[in-house]
Amino acid sequence: MTTARTPSPLLGGLAPDAFMKRYWHKRPLLIRQAIPGFTAPLSRDALFAMAAQDDVESRLISHARKRWQLEHGPFDADDLPPLSRKQWTLLVQGVNLHSPAVDALMQQFRFIPDARLDDVMISYATDGGGVGPHLDSYDVFLLQAHGKRRWRIGPQRDTTWLDDVPLRILKHFEAEEEWILEPGDMLYLPPGYAHDGVAQGECMTYSIGFRAPLEQEMLQNFLYYLAENAPALPFARHFAGRYADPGQSAVKHPAALPDAMIETLVSQLEKVRWGQKEVEDFLGRWLSEPKSHVFFDPPESPLSVTRFVREAAERGLALSPKTQLLYRRNQYYVNGEPLDVPASARSTLRQLADRRRLNAGECANFEQKDQEIVEILYDWYASGWLQLETDPKPPLKLRAVRKKAKK
Ligand code: SIN
Ligand code: CO
Repeated sequence: MTTARTPSPLLGGLAPDAFMKRYWHKRPLLIRQAIPGFTAPLSRDALFAMAAQDDVESRLISHARKRWQLEHGPFDADDLPPLSRKQWTLLVQGVNLHSPAVDALMQQFRFIPDARLDDVMISYATDGGGVGPHLDSYDVFLLQAHGKRRWRIGPQRDTTWLDDVPLRILKHFEAEEEWILEPGDMLYLPPGYAHDGVAQGECMTYSIGFRAPLEQEMLQNFLYYLAENAPALPFARHFAGRYADPGQSAVKHPAALPDAMIETLVSQLEKVRWGQKEVEDFLGRWLSEPKSHVFFDPPESPLSVTRFVREAAERGLALSPKTQLLYRRNQYYVNGEPLDVPASARSTLRQLADRRRLNAGECANFEQKDQEIVEILYDWYASGWLQLETDPKPPLKLRAVRKKAKK
């Protein structure tokens, strides 16, 4: 297993620790052959098929005679321009949720906390295609997956955008450096660093993107959380949790806000308490919440618990790429919900959260262990949050022996 101190070709020979210190959020880095001999795990046709799905976010951007156009998916194959037409791009978001191979690629970037890792977006472009010079408010790794793309980048000072364009495109982009990226090459860009990538012939680029919520968005969501979880307020004394004013007298000025109403709210707010515990609980729930268009696929005919335990011991288990499992000390959060984990299940769940899988050996002694871990995992399996690993297909001889032994 790679550690924070293991130099890696993915980061141009740097260890994750060194990359984070020197480049993360600070300066761009071009990495030639970050993944040596990389071939795109998803074909163009498989990407187009994904863009036709309702539960996949996609956009089509075309540029012709200086006009930019943007359309939102889903797109059937015949909604897309012909492949012979130049200067169009299809962007497909969250491909890691639907392709195990792309999910596996994203796992290589887990030297950055899951709370910050967002998704893998794949762009397909015909010759000359691109989304125009722009800057993003989050960090990104741009991995060239197929064909060539010319990237020009620069620390932009003038951030005026083109008018009357459905995309954010810089009016006065100034590049300082440029390169042509080939399959396996990767460019890291910190937030706010301007870039313009133009396809040279047909090309596909994978963007490993990060989640950078606005401070205001976090605050707003925390305040919602506090309101939802606030203890029952004494309004309830009067009328089922609603404001009530049995002491209200007749008024001469009906348009004036009543003092009692203001005082009641002020005194309620004074009772709202929050601290580190609430912040942790809010972040765990909020950050593990799947995006609104994510739907899980529960197994059509789930195995019985006994069979599930037996199969897990032979094949191992893996979280669905759609599952978000986070923890803070002994508190776990899965897909937006807090989870009370008995002490006996904690170390197994921690391994599952950090590695996203348990190998067969680790599942082998479930039967002897406390049933609590089995209950949690079986429940996740039946909900489509967790899957049995595909059968490793032991050699024929071994399979025959195993069959005999079962008799
Ligand atoms: C692209 O892949 O075409 C665009 C990615 C980006 O600029 O962030
Ligand atoms: Co960008």
